[in-house]
Amino acid sequence: MQLYLNLHLFSIILDFQKIAMHLQKITLVNFKNFESQTFDFQEKINCFVGNNGVGKTNVLDAIYYLSFAKSYFNSVATQNIRHSEDFFMIEGDYKIKEKSDNVVCSLKRGNKKVVKRNGKVYEKFSDHIGYLPLVIISPADRDLITDGSDIRRKFIDNVISQSDNKYLQTVIKYNKVLVQRNSLLKYFALNRTYDALNLKVYDEQLATYGSVIYKKRSAFLDEFIPIFKNRYKAISNSSEHVDLVYKTQLKDINFLELFEQNVERDRILQYTSAGTHKDDLTFEIDGYPIKKFGSQGQQKSYLIALKLAQFDFINKQSNVKPILLLDDIFDKLDDLRVTQLVNLVNNEEFGQLFISDTHKDRTEEVVKKTKQPYKIFQL
Ligand SMILES: Nc1ncnc2c1ncn2[C@@H]1O[C@H](COP(=O)(O)OP(=O)(O)OP(=O)(O)O)[C@@H](O)[C@H]1O
Ligand SMILES: [Mg+2]
Repeated sequence: MQLYLNLHLFSIILDFQKIAMHLQKITLVNFKNFESQTFDFQEKINCFVGNNGVGKTNVLDAIYYLSFAKSYFNSVATQNIRHSEDFFMIEGDYKIKEKSDNVVCSLKRGNKKVVKRNGKVYEKFSDHIGYLPLVIISPADRDLITDGSDIRRKFIDNVISQSDNKYLQTVIKYNKVLVQRNSLLKYFALNRTYDALNLKVYDEQLATYGSVIYKKRSAFLDEFIPIFKNRYKAISNSSEHVDLVYKTQLKDINFLELFEQNVERDRILQYTSAGTHKDDLTFEIDGYPIKKFGSQGQQKSYLIALKLAQFDFINKQSNVKPILLLDDIFDKLDDLRVTQLVNLVNNEEFGQLFISDTHKDRTEEVVKKTKQPYKIFQL
């Protein structure tokens, strides 16, 4: 009991010591549909309202861009440049613990993307990840349920990376070696040759990085799954049992054994068919895959719970409160879930919040209930 109290006290102190962070101002030049626009933000809640297609999601995406040096919605970087323009620029002014921080992301056609913090150009964008922690909840999250395993691995990697940059660097190194190993397998096939020793060099490197990845993912999910289940319960107000299962080939076998087992297959396929790059998550409801057997409402709740759990996890690990972007979520939720969400914002120490919605009145009604200062931008 004493230990529990101490731990509880400790976590309160930690929370108290959490550094305040907020985006004060953003300027968009030629970013998607914006020619040139500046927004001055409220420290707590900011809402973008307006008709379909006015650019509400685009502003949220620009905020996302400043944290991740890429778009959440369009992975083809040049397609984020305003049609028939030559470049885009996003500039954000942050206040972090009373200190000002300036982040600029820009891209000119034919050139490399540039990301700067306080005037200094990043050599590796990955060094920036986690500096401005952020979680987005958007209708596009549906892809997590419907798409292939790649997007779910990216989800896991995104959550861990924001509080563990070393992990991100390990994933990057693993992927680089993977590309090299795959090229070698292609080379073997093309030249009708084979050199086991040569392949082994890559196997060993992949084993080194891959074991770290496997251990981190396992440890992360052990912690994450209970948080997620709690969130689901709070949002859905229902009795169904949801689960999240880590599917990996590494559970009962080590990396080198795995490669050995698959080497013939890899040679035929000309790529590496086993490893942590094949990991996946299965989303279940009452023991069945939610993709096939979940109702639309259950799927929505599942995704929001997943994202709020991501918020909780990063919030716990990081010394700043993540920015939360809520894209179009009132539209997709019934009143009960909206109320639950407002309560969450009320009861817990959220940081800065950005909301997009087509209905000004509905948004205003909801944010008023939070009794927090807010600002509404009519686009
Ligand atoms: N590269 C680009 N250049 C110019 N316009 C673009 C570009 N990319 C997207 N757009 C425009 O941005 C608009 C969509 O903006 P956005 O998705 O932010 O709308 P929204 O306000 O969120 O709408 P909804 O309420 O439907 O979600 C579209 O009109 C689209 O044509
Ligand atoms: Mg939108």
